[in-house]
Amino acid sequence: MLWISIDRTSTVPLIRQIYLQLRDRILKGELPAGCRLPASRELAAELKVSRNVVLEAYDQLTAEGYLEGRTGSGTYVAQGASWQRNPTPFPTASHLTTTPDDLIDFRSGIPALDRFPKKQWGQLAKMICLETSPDSFGYGAPEGCIELRSTLSHYILRTRGVHCHPDQLIITTGAAQAFSLIGRLLLSPGDTLVLEDPTTPEIREIFAVFDVEICSVPVDDRGLQTHALPTHPSPRFILITPSHQFPLGSVLTIQRRIELLQFARSTQCWIVEDDYDSEFRYEGTPVSSLQGLDPDRVIYIGTFSKNLSPALRLGYLVLPVPLIEPCRRIKRLTDLHTSVFDQLTLARFIQTGLLDRHINQMKKLYRQRRNTLKQGLATHFSEQVKILGDSTGLHLVAAFTKTQFTSDVLQRIAQQHVRVYPVSNYTNLQNSYQHEIVLGYANLSVTEIEIGLQRLKQVLI
Ligand SMILES: Cc1ncc(COP(=O)(O)O)c(C=O)c1O
Repeated sequence: MLWISIDRTSTVPLIRQIYLQLRDRILKGELPAGCRLPASRELAAELKVSRNVVLEAYDQLTAEGYLEGRTGSGTYVAQGASWQRNPTPFPTASHLTTTPDDLIDFRSGIPALDRFPKKQWGQLAKMICLETSPDSFGYGAPEGCIELRSTLSHYILRTRGVHCHPDQLIITTGAAQAFSLIGRLLLSPGDTLVLEDPTTPEIREIFAVFDVEICSVPVDDRGLQTHALPTHPSPRFILITPSHQFPLGSVLTIQRRIELLQFARSTQCWIVEDDYDSEFRYEGTPVSSLQGLDPDRVIYIGTFSKNLSPALRLGYLVLPVPLIEPCRRIKRLTDLHTSVFDQLTLARFIQTGLLDRHINQMKKLYRQRRNTLKQGLATHFSEQVKILGDSTGLHLVAAFTKTQFTSDVLQRIAQQHVRVYPVSNYTNLQNSYQHEIVLGYANLSVTEIEIGLQRLKQVLI
């Protein structure tokens, strides 16, 4: 007789209990192919359930291919239904990294997460969900909602000097998706592309999957060294952060901007401008976009990860006209489109002036945090430290003349429950940037910055 246990106190229906136990034993091979099951009447009597319960469980297993009925002779386990699983053991806690509660993490590019305008965003999101037409609950356009694209085209002209028609915009799931779309749009195996050095390792990884030659061109305090651009073979595109080089923070000078555009024209290559955090400029006049100088040659990428929240996953591409249709097609094939409701909420957030207000408030806050960091570095390390790239953005670079950030030094810093990010992690150049670390400050309070610096001092002095 077949061993099946029935739990009458369970919330799981009887049919489901029988079905699951039989399925499990067939999968494990305990009921092998060809094994005859008891007649439904017999099993029902033994389990003290109605015959229909057993019949329904058998029917379900037959429909899924576990059982087969042979006319006049009964119900049998079907061939090929056993499956030995080898589950991968889940790593025990000792394999997982733990984060100390009092960790001071100077990670770059994270805005003040506790200042996200939850109330305003939430109210707008609710209003849009209740007010919007039924159409908005269907599939949207791959390039994004016209409400957002139209609002954004005015916004980026006003704030960044980016010139575009709304149809040149594609709303993306963050800048990260914009990079992937550009890779699919422009790259073929064997092509060359230019990245700045240093740059984020993630960007290198995104493009490396396209089986291309990545040429790293060094930067200095005037931005990308345009004289070092490769001409043979000429690159498919040059990806650059001209308003705030990541991570060193230099601004590409107008002379180099012009050299870069001339190079791109003469070699017929594209320029991809990653404008990730330039709204936060604390000193000097705002730096306009490169796109504004040559909208036909420059692909512009913007993101709301730094001025609002990285969790939103909202960014955009501004494309020269010939690239619009092919890029829309790739976006459609990638994920159809970015969330309509988030786009509509963002459009309203910009239209009502809330984005401007939030950026202004954050600018004041970040300036104060940046000043605390700069003053603290000067107080604790005086001549031993030089600060770079602090006029814009959410991070700065500190160069310590007497310290090399070896793995041993970084480990000792980590033991103090502080995390810093050596610039050497961002470069392909051997033995360079040994003395520099990136310090993100936007998501740390003034007190946290001060404590972090005191702990750093214990290791470095
Ligand atoms: C250089 C650079 N560009 C852009 C981004 C923004 O990426 P996303 O919009 O996907 O969050 C980042 C993220 O940290 C970055 O480091």
